[in-house]
Order: sequence, then C-alpha cells, then structure tokens
Amino acid sequence: MTVSKKIISYVEANIIPKYQYFDKAHDISHVEKVIKNSMLIAADYDVDASMVYVIAAYHDVGLSEGRDDHEMRSSKILLEDNNLRKWFSSNELGIMAQAIEDHRASNDYKPRSIYGNIVAEADRDIDYISVLTRIAQYSLGFFPEYTEEQHFDRSYMHLIEKYGDYGYIKLWLDTEQNRKNLEELRKKMTSKEKLKKDFIAILRREGFSANEVIQTIMSRRSVRSYKPEQIDEPLLQTIIEAGRAAPSGGNVQLTHLIVIQDNVVMKDIIKIAKEEFAKMTFDENTYSSLKANIENAQNPDSLFDIFYSAPTLIITAHKIGHKNAIKDSACVLENMMIASTALGLGSCWINQLSWLDDNESMRQYLFKLGLKEDEFVTGSLSLGYPATDPGHPLPRTGNPISYVR
Ligand SMILES: Cc1cc2nc3c(=O)[nH]c(=O)nc-3n(C[C@H](O)[C@H](O)[C@H](O)COP(=O)(O)O)c2cc1C
Repeated sequence: MTVSKKIISYVEANIIPKYQYFDKAHDISHVEKVIKNSMLIAADYDVDASMVYVIAAYHDVGLSEGRDDHEMRSSKILLEDNNLRKWFSSNELGIMAQAIEDHRASNDYKPRSIYGNIVAEADRDIDYISVLTRIAQYSLGFFPEYTEEQHFDRSYMHLIEKYGDYGYIKLWLDTEQNRKNLEELRKKMTSKEKLKKDFIAILRREGFSANEVIQTIMSRRSVRSYKPEQIDEPLLQTIIEAGRAAPSGGNVQLTHLIVIQDNVVMKDIIKIAKEEFAKMTFDENTYSSLKANIENAQNPDSLFDIFYSAPTLIITAHKIGHKNAIKDSACVLENMMIASTALGLGSCWINQLSWLDDNESMRQYLFKLGLKEDEFVTGSLSLGYPATDPGHPLPRTGNPISYVR
C-alpha cells in the first residue's frame, strides 16, 4: 500500500492546510486521522492506495462554505482540481468524487463503491472520548453562547440521534474496531449521569468557561433591527461608562463620545451621508463594503438605513494625527458592544461615518453636535433593544492562531 510521493507532497502543501480554518472537530488533526484510518482499513482490500489517500484528504474540504452539502462541494473541488489529472484517469476521479459524496454518516444509502465504504468507515471515529470531544468542540464552535447545561442537552440529543440504538450512524464495512467502539459507546450512553460528568470535563478541557463575562463576549452579535422605543437611561449610562472604562495608549483618554438620541438629527446625518457617498466613484480595488455603500447611495430608491433605525447612535471621535486614535476608539466601542449584550441590548458598529471622516459637509454638520475642529470620527455604534433574535454567534473560522511554546 504505497501512495506516490508526488501526490503526498501536493496534497500536504495544497489541501491539508485548508483544514486549519475549519471548526475544531474538522481541523487538520481530523483529516489526518481519516487519512490514517482509511489507509489502515484499505490494507484489507484490493484497492488503489493513492485513490484512498486522496479521497480521505479531500473528503471534508468543502466545509470552507459551511456544513450543508459540504460533501457535494468537496467532490466538486476534487473534480475541478486539474493537478489530480496528472495522476488519475477521468474514470478514477469519478469514483473518487462519488466516494466523497457518499462519506457522510447521515446518508441513508450504502456507499456506491469500496472507496466510499472505506472513507465513510474511516470517518466514523467512534471511540467514546473522541466522540465526546468532537461533539464538545462542535458545540463550543457553533453555540459559543451556551451554558454548560445547554451544551450537554444539545449534545446528548445529538448522541442519541446519531449513536443510539436507533441512531442514524451506519457502519457499512463492519470493521471490528468500529463495531466494538459503537457497542462500548452505547453501553456508556446508558448512564446519563456519568456521561454528563465526562462530557462536562471534556467541554472544560476544550475551553468552555462558565464565567459570565466570557459568555457575554461569546454571545455578542451585530444587531441590525431595533425596536423603536428608546433605551432606558440607566442602561445607556452603564454602557457609556463601560466605554469610558476602556484602556487607552498612555492613558490619554482622548476618545470623545457623541451620543445622539434625536431622530431628526439621525435623519439629517443619513441624508448628508447618502448625498456624499452618491458623489463617490469606485473601481475594482475599492473595499467591497464601501463599494456596496456607494452603489446603495447612488440608488435614488434605496432607504439607506445605515443605522438600522436604531433609537440611539454613539459616535466616537479622536484627535487628528494621534497615533492611537483608532486603537483607543476600538477599545471603547468594543467595551460598549459587550456591555450592551450583557444588558440585553443590541448594537452594531457603523462604519459609514468614519469613511466620511474628512468630508467637509459631514464635518460641518457634526461640529454642531459637538465634534471639535481638531477631532475626526473614528467609528460609531447603533444601539437599541433588538427587534428580532440576532441568532447564534457566527463560528470563527478565520482569526488564525500561531502558538509558540
Ligand atoms: C471595524 C468594523 C466595521 C464594521 N462596519 C459595519 C457597518 O458599517 N455596518 C454593519 O452593518 N456592520 C458593520 N460591522 C459589523 C460586522 O459586519 C460584524 O461584526 C461581522 O459581520 C461579524 O458579525 P457579528 O458581529 O455578529 O459576530 C463592522 C464591524 C467592525 C469591527
């Protein structure tokens, strides 16, 4: 069972690194495990080792665009990778693509080839601790706002649905290891209390914190629809003070907050912003959000509701030319966003005013609201009671980490 060295180096350089951006349950260690398991299982069958290897390497690569139908996207990525044509015939690539489509545990049909069976079986890592770890990682990644109880309840239901006596998991190849592991897992699932203890220990090991501040940070969302009623004054004051409590470089405390709760003023700002953006041009290098904004402003029928009809807007400004202006202001804004979440309010960073930070018409208007001649707008925040549930936080697949330890 040998895989061509050229294939291995191509896959290791171009495919495996893609997994670093996926959730923890599907990261590089997952694909490496599926490759290892696939090669072990394949040793008992008369199959092409390079095909088995490549199928395992590509099986989840479509997760870059989310979980739904990822097996179809993985299969497409493999078929569209012209480099593979150097090593595999069209027929072989067809079999490989089909095997990838067939790998999911939720599929209710038997994989159409031995290759599909191998990758499906290799992907079923049903060792008790591995299963609990994977479920905990998934839950933390996709439901970061959950309490311990909620994580367990969701995960327990998933365990029963997938691995219970009537669960949807299918072991098409009936390898001894998977069969034994599944029996063991089912036995352990009979004691819910012990299972919960083990799950919570793993959840904590994987980074869960029961600390309320951490939970608030993990549950914050950008809110883009607000109730019309004004926020309670004590809550507003708490949010402002949380903003002012932010750190600043050299402790200069130069972030200036302009708090607007006057609907007429908000409408005026929107009107000026729309007029000024409408005058702008863009090209292929223009930042996509700014371009969308200009296009929106140039459409006479658009609402241009850049503050999402929030009842409160807080603008941050800072000294022109001050090196830490944006950094200090971002700390203030983030503190206010977290404080808003903690208090049951919604907020959203609004960037349009900082894009117009040197626009004369906007500056003249903002001077009337308190902006100083030597200041510029660094950011702003819409604030109010959310009109709809903003939903679960988005899993962070970016913001990469490099550890040196
Ligand atoms: C610097 C910055 C500028 C942003 N500008 C806007 C904006 O102008 N309008 C908007 O609706 N959201 C804006 N956002 C919100 C982001 O779109 C949002 O944080 C991101 O999509 C992640 O969603 P989440 O905040 O719900 O986790 C901005 C966020 C930051 C940090």
